[in-house]
Amino acid sequence: MVVSGEQSQSLSVDDKRYIWHPFTQMKDWLENEQIIIESGHGVYLKDIHGREYIDGVSSLWVTVHGHGRPEINEAIIQQVKKISHSTMLGLSNVPAIELARKLAGITPAGINKVFYSDSGSTAVEIALKIAFQYWQQSSRPEKTKFITFRNAYHGDTIGSVSVGGIDLFHAVYRPLLFPTLQTGSAYCYRCSLDLDPDSCRLACLNQLEEMLDEHHAEVAALIVEPLVQAAAGMLLSPPGYLRRIRDLCARYDVLMIADEVAVGFGRTGKMFACEHEGVSPDIMTVAKGITGGYLPLAATITTDEVFEAFLGEPDESRTFFHGHTYTGNPVACAAAIASIDIFEKDRTLETMQPKIEQLTRALDRLRELPSVGDIRQRGFMVGIELVASRESKEPYPAAKRMGHQVILEARKMGMIIRPLGDVVVLMPPLVTTAEELDRIVEITYGAIERVTGR
Ligand SMILES: Cc1ncc(COP(=O)(O)O)c(C=O)c1O
Repeated sequence: MVVSGEQSQSLSVDDKRYIWHPFTQMKDWLENEQIIIESGHGVYLKDIHGREYIDGVSSLWVTVHGHGRPEINEAIIQQVKKISHSTMLGLSNVPAIELARKLAGITPAGINKVFYSDSGSTAVEIALKIAFQYWQQSSRPEKTKFITFRNAYHGDTIGSVSVGGIDLFHAVYRPLLFPTLQTGSAYCYRCSLDLDPDSCRLACLNQLEEMLDEHHAEVAALIVEPLVQAAAGMLLSPPGYLRRIRDLCARYDVLMIADEVAVGFGRTGKMFACEHEGVSPDIMTVAKGITGGYLPLAATITTDEVFEAFLGEPDESRTFFHGHTYTGNPVACAAAIASIDIFEKDRTLETMQPKIEQLTRALDRLRELPSVGDIRQRGFMVGIELVASRESKEPYPAAKRMGHQVILEARKMGMIIRPLGDVVVLMPPLVTTAEELDRIVEITYGAIERVTGR
């Protein structure tokens, strides 16, 4: 359906009159024409004027099997006919149980206990509170601190911002945040130790090891984005990095929280990023792709050992006093079950392997463009870092907003993407075909070329 000229005009006016958009400078928004999406199918979005765009970032990293998948739509409809919501406080519901069973089956060995919530940020808040309380109830009350990584992003609530490390987003809230022990992150293109990733032997983790050596007695947990620091600009961990973090956490008796909110559900080419290095964390957070991108849902999943520290008599106060109103919403859980079933039915992870390789080959052509400093890819997650000088890696002045210019050009060519500073991000849905992937890279090439020249 395409809306009439009059309707579209009033939608544009009312958007600007009534809505405050996330992560958006609203002055800029109000001064410019904006796209209003009306529908979607497969990897395409359609706006109210009937123009189609490739959804090149999976509607902010959530869409897995494409928009309008009949199986997920049907699962939602069938569940709504039974019941749309009932509480998990004092009751349970059928889809929440079935989904928890499935999640325990597909997540790394050892993590089985599913605590539901509704966004990546809440999943992280819950992980932090569980880790903290775990030690309070395990005769180690002095273990209260968290180790975090520079450039980390774990969400926008105060707890998840406290464990974040992106100054642009987080600095203003510093007075509100709890302090953490922050260690450096792996940003191999701009290595702070000036080492080569092929020969560095993960020297950037030495700082973490020293930190653990000195502080482990007071550290409750470490929180890490496995394999890809996504919001920082798709910064890839070198091979062995995650494994060594796991080993260090075990050696120093610190809980490992793996935040799989961005990388989970196939984005990196395996169901969960931890699998690439055979890692089982103590606590894992998932959200975004869990419902295939249809409804808000998140889960914090723990080991039995963590869970058991919360068992006791009601008057012992070992209860985990946390819960959101829509925790375990049955419609969202039904969508998630349908999405996980599609992974199996379509052999999604298997069929994406040759497409990952093809994407690598297609992206290689971008190196012809002198403004392309670095291309980072893990599975279907891609970051293309634009630089003013490839030789010196000098960034463009921030005021030029090169990443933003590139995504505006891409829109004119029929693709919606979003930058992270001057990193152009591509994260297509896992069902994107080989031809569509080629088209995505072709548009990206054209948009960068038009904005930065050759
Ligand atoms: C690794 C990671 N954790 C947590 C979050 C927060 O998720 P949400 O936006 O659903 O709160 C994000 C969002 O991008 C993320 O990338």
